[in-house]
Amino acid sequence: MSKEVQIIIDGKTFHFPVIEGSEGEKAIDIAKLRDLTGYITLDTGYKNTGATKSAITFLDGEQGVLRYRGYPIEQLASKASFLEVSYLLIYGELPTLAQLENFKIRIQKHTNLHEDIKKVFDGFPSSAHPMGVLSSAVSSLTAYYPGSIDPNASEDEIDLTIVRLMAKLPTIAAWSYRNSKGMPLMYPKPKLGYCENFLYMMFAQPNEDFDIDPVVAEALNTLLILHADHEQNCSTSTVRIVGSAHASLYSSIAAGINALWGPLHGGANQEVIEMLDQIKSDGGDTQKWIAKAKDKNDPFRLMGFGHRVYKNFDPRAKIIKKACDDILSKLGVNDPVLEIAKELEQAALNDPYFVERKLYPNVDFYSGIIYRALGLKSDLFTVMFALGRLPGWIAQWKELRDAKEPIGRPRQIYTGHTTREYIPIEKRK
Ligand code: CMC
Repeated sequence: MSKEVQIIIDGKTFHFPVIEGSEGEKAIDIAKLRDLTGYITLDTGYKNTGATKSAITFLDGEQGVLRYRGYPIEQLASKASFLEVSYLLIYGELPTLAQLENFKIRIQKHTNLHEDIKKVFDGFPSSAHPMGVLSSAVSSLTAYYPGSIDPNASEDEIDLTIVRLMAKLPTIAAWSYRNSKGMPLMYPKPKLGYCENFLYMMFAQPNEDFDIDPVVAEALNTLLILHADHEQNCSTSTVRIVGSAHASLYSSIAAGINALWGPLHGGANQEVIEMLDQIKSDGGDTQKWIAKAKDKNDPFRLMGFGHRVYKNFDPRAKIIKKACDDILSKLGVNDPVLEIAKELEQAALNDPYFVERKLYPNVDFYSGIIYRALGLKSDLFTVMFALGRLPGWIAQWKELRDAKEPIGRPRQIYTGHTTREYIPIEKRK
């Protein structure tokens, strides 16, 4: 017998169905709540609200579990390529060799940007944060591919938009970066691998040989996989809600990029490295900064700590911490902030404030140290997150569209003035 929940309001009992997911998580289906009772639910920050049913990513925050389409993140991060994982997220299954090859070839064909898009980059001062440039350039793609804004576009047209986005985002990301450094833009070398081509566009100099360090390319591959999807987080929910209005994929992804930029979300990776540098230049007294983070009168938060859903450990952080040690030693990089980060982590993990609130290092805590070892400047860290998250955003947008989900439109509890009469300006006090 299917389960139900009874809710008693003003002495009257109402019955609501229980929805159960494939991993046993349960929800009360309140779709008819307002019609039946006149009440709505209030859940600021959506802490207990399921916005959708999704078959893409499973996450158990209590157990520290993360799986894409059923495959554990640990296996994907150590064995798969980013394009393979992207295919899995977007199309639902791991690709065969032939499917992956076809996906790669299609992506390779679209890595170049329309020459006119250069003007978008030219329009920004070099002080522009690459995340702002990234979202603007992605938005501008609607102008070059107007077919993408048709909400009734064919499946083939949509698939072409997906491939274009996967192909062009690394080029846009690299150009945003080079533009911010006043460096000449490098055209893609599509025959290189996805990560290798990105590194080439980032770091190569015109008319000079450029050797791609396989350690760097491999590290990038792992980081992109770890960021590839994370179910209904802030930026993904943004992508879905924008997409629910039948906005184009480019517009929805541009909105997701803007949401990701926030320091409480993906922007935390830049904040972490800047915080660690600040602690170092302040003498490295981690206890002082722990005390600041605990002080409710001090706005300082320990960046890279805490997570809305992980209340045990963030499995991505575990992989990244280990990768951080490996990569720094392989590259022969000695970054003193790594020691500060480890000390800070230990101090927090032994402090009742952090223990009671279940605050653990998240994906952003160690990723910045790796990005810096790979030669990236801190304002590019969130761009790297966006590059990794792209297939997840695409998969979620596609799922919403395939399920013909209705437009996202939350309700509210109004707390403003009740009705009052307009007062002409000359009579106002
Ligand atoms: N430093 C100090 N105190 C913290 C921190 C922190 N980093 N995070 C949470 N707290 C405290 C918070 O003050 C609150 O205390 P109290 O109960 O006394 O009021 C309690 O812990 C619960 O915090 P919350 O802000 O209500 O929790 P939330 O689920 O709304 O926020 C968060 C989650 C990630 C925004 C938050 O932990 C945070 O601001 N962390 C730092 C920013 C960060 O690292 N963000 C990256 C998240 S992972 C990447 C991604 O977005 O996917």
